[in-house]
Amino acid sequence: MAAAPASRMLLLCLAVAATAGVLQARAQPDSNGFISIDCGLPGTASYVDDTTKLAYVPDAGFTGAGSNHNISAEYITPTLAERYHNVRSFPDGARNCYTLRSIVAQVPPPRHAATFKYGNYDGLARPPIFDLYIGVNFWTMVNVTDADSAIILEAIVLVPDDFVQVCLVNTGTGTPFISGLDLRPLKSTLYPQANATQGLVLLARLNFGPTNSTAIIRYPDDPHDRVWFPWVNTAAWNSVSTTLRVEDIADDDMFEVPTKVLQTAITPRNASESIEFSWDPEPQPKDPTPGYVANMHFSELELLPGNATRQFYVNLNGKPWFPKPYSPMYLISDTIYNSNPGRGFPHYNVSINATANSTLPPMINAVEVFSVIPTTNVGTDSQDVSAITAIKAKYGVKKNWMGDPCVPKTLAWEGLTCSYAISSPPRITSLQWEFVFCRNLSFSGLNGDVSSSFAIVKAVQYMYICHTNNLSGSVPDSLSQLSSLTVLDLTGNKLSESIPSGLLKRIQDGSLNLRYGDNPNLCTNGKSCQTKKTKSKLAITLPRKKQGPASNSVKPQNETPVTHEPPAGGGSYPQSSLQLENRLFTYKELEMITDNFQRVLGRGGFGYVYDGFLEDGTQVAVKLRSDSSNQGVKEFLAEAQTLTEIHHKNLVSMIGYCKDGDYMALVYDCLASMDFISLHGNGRNTGFLNWRQRLKIAQESAQGLEYLHKGCSPPLIHRDVKAANILLNAKLEAKIADFGLTKAYRENDTHMSNTLVGTLGYVDPEYHATMQPTTKSDVYSFGVALLELVTGRPAILRDPEPTSLIQWARQRLARGNIEGVADQRMRGDHDVNSVWKAADVALKCTAQASAQRPTMTEVVAQLQKCLELEEARAAATGGSGDPYSGYSAYSTDVSQTSTGFEVEHNFGRVPTMPTGPAAR
Ligand SMILES: *[C@@H]1O[C@H](CO)[C@@H](O)[C@H](O)[C@H]1NC(C)=O
Ligand SMILES: *[C@@H]1O[C@H](CO)[C@@H](O)[C@H](O)[C@H]1NC(C)=O
Ligand SMILES: *[C@@H]1O[C@H](CO)[C@@H](O)[C@H](O)[C@H]1NC(C)=O
Ligand SMILES: *[C@@H]1O[C@H](CO)[C@@H](O)[C@H](O)[C@H]1NC(C)=O
Ligand SMILES: *[C@@H]1O[C@H](CO)[C@@H](O)[C@H](O)[C@H]1NC(C)=O
Ligand SMILES: *[C@@H]1O[C@H](CO)[C@@H](O)[C@H](O)[C@H]1NC(C)=O
Ligand SMILES: *[C@@H]1O[C@H](CO)[C@@H](O)[C@H](O)[C@H]1NC(C)=O
Repeated sequence: MAAAPASRMLLLCLAVAATAGVLQARAQPDSNGFISIDCGLPGTASYVDDTTKLAYVPDAGFTGAGSNHNISAEYITPTLAERYHNVRSFPDGARNCYTLRSIVAQVPPPRHAATFKYGNYDGLARPPIFDLYIGVNFWTMVNVTDADSAIILEAIVLVPDDFVQVCLVNTGTGTPFISGLDLRPLKSTLYPQANATQGLVLLARLNFGPTNSTAIIRYPDDPHDRVWFPWVNTAAWNSVSTTLRVEDIADDDMFEVPTKVLQTAITPRNASESIEFSWDPEPQPKDPTPGYVANMHFSELELLPGNATRQFYVNLNGKPWFPKPYSPMYLISDTIYNSNPGRGFPHYNVSINATANSTLPPMINAVEVFSVIPTTNVGTDSQDVSAITAIKAKYGVKKNWMGDPCVPKTLAWEGLTCSYAISSPPRITSLQWEFVFCRNLSFSGLNGDVSSSFAIVKAVQYMYICHTNNLSGSVPDSLSQLSSLTVLDLTGNKLSESIPSGLLKRIQDGSLNLRYGDNPNLCTNGKSCQTKKTKSKLAITLPRKKQGPASNSVKPQNETPVTHEPPAGGGSYPQSSLQLENRLFTYKELEMITDNFQRVLGRGGFGYVYDGFLEDGTQVAVKLRSDSSNQGVKEFLAEAQTLTEIHHKNLVSMIGYCKDGDYMALVYDCLASMDFISLHGNGRNTGFLNWRQRLKIAQESAQGLEYLHKGCSPPLIHRDVKAANILLNAKLEAKIADFGLTKAYRENDTHMSNTLVGTLGYVDPEYHATMQPTTKSDVYSFGVALLELVTGRPAILRDPEPTSLIQWARQRLARGNIEGVADQRMRGDHDVNSVWKAADVALKCTAQASAQRPTMTEVVAQLQKCLELEEARAAATGGSGDPYSGYSAYSTDVSQTSTGFEVEHNFGRVPTMPTGPAAR
């Protein structure tokens, strides 16, 4: 009989009169735990809403972004609630958030209501569409269809933390704005359908048969300040009401519907008809088949005589929804609800019909309909969030650091790198402070001391708090407690005092690479802190002058220590605090170590590298300079000198050296494979590396180079980066080798070099033209090595005619042919976006103009992203997460694949973007 209008109850016009009374600003929840925010309200004064008597506060304390606007005067009516008079809009940044704290801890789940009235505040007459998130979970799309409607959106979600964020996400369809935000904590027993993995978004909350057909019921009638809209249809329904109190059925009532709502109900006008109402699903791009739950609230309001019965069925789309006949109890509230959302119906039609035995027509007092949203996304580790939030607050970071630091991935904070495990919350693994501050020219500097919060970001591996120029005070020793930290870069600040002992220990045990150059007040010599410039002595006994082997008859034991000047710029590597324990070997000892130079590991321009074992069983590599070597004595000694100075886990480290008569040798820590190189299928090592291993090798060697460029002052240029100089130890950890051509780089140093050095196929064309090597020359060469890792092909292809690998790859990638570029021996077992991205990094590195090439720091960060893509895929497919899997696992004849059967997959995209072509 009564086909009530299908409700589009999401868009409701709220006309509540409000008069302003001024109160003190309160950012704290009121005595109910309520937080009521008037978004865009200027100043600090709050006011009391005339209808609810709730205090509304300005929003400035809850968000750090956006700007205030008044809506157009034409939309302001005398009855319009004050919070609709102004809005806050967010023209900048993809995501802007409100952070609501101090939720009364024992009363989750809170209910949130956000209100929106566009009112043409921006004069553009273009109502926007944007997304709303609760924390890291999608809440709903906000489709503001006209200027006059007030939209009230409500969600009930369980919040895991003592704060919650409501975020507006710009989806490219208009500037997000908001009029008001209300937070109302609820007892956790309320709304059983809202749990840790499922939240509720209100579609409609209706009070049937109200005595005043225009009156909204909310606080204080509803102690939870739910808004119950009146629903009357005098043509179809009779109203029933009582003035007696309607009680809860029990103490653990799950809905706590206010008495005032339950005191009225409807029955069909024609007693033989049923009560009917309906709604249509509201699909959204992010939720095309929403599921719905409904709560129907009943209470008998008439005292029935003994021979009378009110008994009915509740049906959904013609089928019994509640299986049994139901009779409401007199003045006792009860609710029929579903827990598992109904989904996929084109239309939801509820009908309530009397049973055959019923002497009275059916009735209903109130209904709530919700769509359900998954709340399964997990935010960043809460301790990490507190730490980074404290850091953000301390330094007044004005960047668009909003919402969760790591989630969703696409909105992760700039300058942070996160790790995403399946079973635990994301963690912050890298802080690139330099990235955050120095590249943002609008930021004028980082002032103050090193926040103790840095030591709370527990999973961080890389911390770059460099070149801020203003960070002062001492280096906190608490940073040494960060057990995952491998790089701490404090270069370019105003730090003072000395490096604390805990950090020194970490440097000594090799677990931390600390950079602290360019801190003029930092005392890097533990013993004499009074003078700023202290020459420190280093027990390195390598002669620095050019000495031909023939003229040098000094026995190694007799060499006298020489003073080693600290590098320019105040010392960016540890000096006297770390005595380098380089051992001197005699030629006889080398013979023993290498068992008379039996096993050759590799050969370079300098001569041979031999496998050996020290007395204690440590495996080493011995690089012996041959007389016919084209690495002169000078280069050899330069390499030895460099190696004594630089220490990084991704640079080969020297255990000792030999300068015995004519013999000169360097003894390195062992590198099991001298050529990765199995890549090129040269037959000796038929194992090959999987994509993850290749990425790790690339990333680690990039870190080694980055250290040369940034950790050393002045920067060191390797000048001979190539695949053959990227060595692997038994754990497949990559180390850059061969520092014979390495040069300190000083700007405008015209004496740098006048001979072109490097290896064919790797030489930067700009260097070739200018003869001036720069750190970007290394970047270029690294790009070539990276391409080798991607393609498994050498830097110069010989077949059919000599072509550079760069040329070859560029042509294929320009056609979108990533599969034709990726090494076939990986058998497609890789994340295609990760390969795209790596190939793209390689192409950027090999850009013709050095200014267009990234720095090694950027390369490291990009490769980290590639690694994350691949690891996410491996985790999702249960694939090769084991770092050793794949290595030496195949002994197929790789020569047949190196000719390559090419599969031309046209992805139709040219990889010019830093991200791969397919959005993930
Ligand atoms: C927004 O609402 C309007 C009017 O109902 C509708 O035509 C439009 O398709 C909606 N936009 C989206 C993205 O759903
Ligand atoms: C009905 O409610 C409206 C809005 O609250 C109010 O303005 C009006 O006075 C009420 N009417 C009666 C008869 O109480
Ligand atoms: C119930 O009993 C009352 C008198 O006790 C009578 O007036 C009424 O008609 C009866 N109703 C029904 C449905 O039998
Ligand atoms: C009421 O609904 C039930 C369950 O759907 C159905 O079996 C019955 O026929 C309906 N009765 C009337 C009178 O419509
Ligand atoms: C939440 O409720 C839904 C629907 O009843 C259920 O499928 C899910 O398992 C519940 N989650 C938890 C954590 O209890
Ligand atoms: C209706 O009444 C009859 C007789 O009292 C009873 O047997 C039957 O179960 C009742 N039906 C319902 C649905 O209560
Ligand atoms: C290098 O030369 C440029 C141009 O002559 C000059 O502006 C710059 O200051 C010089 N840099 C140094 C470190 O001397």
